[in-house]
Amino acid sequence: MNAVLREPPQEPALKVAESRDFRSYHAFLRAARNYMEGPLVAEMYTRYESAAGPPPAARDLETAEDMLDELLPFQVYSWAFRHLQRFKYHRPSFGIFATVQAQRDALIARLDASTASAPADELRLDPNLDLPAYFKYVPFHQHTGGVTHDELDGIAYEIGRRTTVPSHGDPNGIYHLLFDTLPKKSYARVLDWGVGHGAALITWQQMHPESECHGVDLSAPCLKLAHQRAREHRMRLLLSQQDLEHLDFPDNHFDLIFFNFMLHELPPANTPALLREAHRVLKPAGLFAGHEFHVRPGDAFQNVLQRSHAWLNNETYSVPWYDTPIDAIARDVGFKRASITPFERLNRSVLRPGKQAVNANHWNLYQFEK
Ligand SMILES: C[S@@+](CC[C@H](N)C(=O)[O-])C[C@H]1O[C@@H](n2cnc3c(N)ncnc32)[C@H](O)[C@@H]1O
Repeated sequence: MNAVLREPPQEPALKVAESRDFRSYHAFLRAARNYMEGPLVAEMYTRYESAAGPPPAARDLETAEDMLDELLPFQVYSWAFRHLQRFKYHRPSFGIFATVQAQRDALIARLDASTASAPADELRLDPNLDLPAYFKYVPFHQHTGGVTHDELDGIAYEIGRRTTVPSHGDPNGIYHLLFDTLPKKSYARVLDWGVGHGAALITWQQMHPESECHGVDLSAPCLKLAHQRAREHRMRLLLSQQDLEHLDFPDNHFDLIFFNFMLHELPPANTPALLREAHRVLKPAGLFAGHEFHVRPGDAFQNVLQRSHAWLNNETYSVPWYDTPIDAIARDVGFKRASITPFERLNRSVLRPGKQAVNANHWNLYQFEK
């Protein structure tokens, strides 16, 4: 089924007016994060190495953590990470919340209009959905209250994501990188596992007009925005508010389930049930694929930075995620092949002239086949 509509969009665009101060802050934030994850990490590593000695000295996590805690570049990095992100949402004059709040009535009117005109299968909302306790109030990424409580949460989240991967000028570039790794073929029916504001699914549909595109999320404000954005692109996405642990799709339904930044936001106790459900709704030989950040094996310095990210950005479940035996769980729930490989195109090394490069972050690519 070709899901791209022929007729022009019925909905006008939803656009948040952004002041010059607001835009400047986001430009500054991207530059600051790039500085922190580049030259500042190089400076940090140089000092760490001179205190610890060359590898393999001081390569256990606790020692590395104690050493980094004492280093000024790490203290600056930590302070800046925490508070620049906090300012991003909360600055009274030009934070994301203040900006969308000032336009509240107009933004809600636009979302309401597009929701009201949505065909039933394009936007299935469930006001009685029981939100899992692990999700209900967690302020992931310092988004106070989480993404399900305020009607503008989807819009705030969409703006916030622009600087999630600051080295990418195009925040949707990360989706292209993921999709490029998948086997080149036609996918009749796909599911975006945690569709959020819809940008990944829209990117997929642009690349694969043949696919019937489904997206599931717990957040009604995100789904409403995803529907609005789909209509701006003249697309028909099939969005539904469901818990990924209890989907209403039949068995053997999807050729592909993809995800972006999802596993680290799920508590390990729920991961087996979530993967079992994904396995159930996949067709035989279907693929469950996505990317996720992780600790880099044997690299204590990177591991400290990665773990500190959990505290600095309210990534409540990411430290337990690093210890989750996801490949064993995938096999337990029935996947016949569980491949986990470093996602080198996303991994970022900081180059130091004449010296070994430093790993500032680490991403893995996950491909589980039914
Ligand atoms: C880190 S965001 C990722 C959003 C999107 N994939 C992106 O690329 O920006 C995680 C999303 O998963 C959703 N989510 C978390 N747990 C879920 C669950 N159990 N069922 C459905 N959606 C869930 C959240 O509401 C949120 O929109």
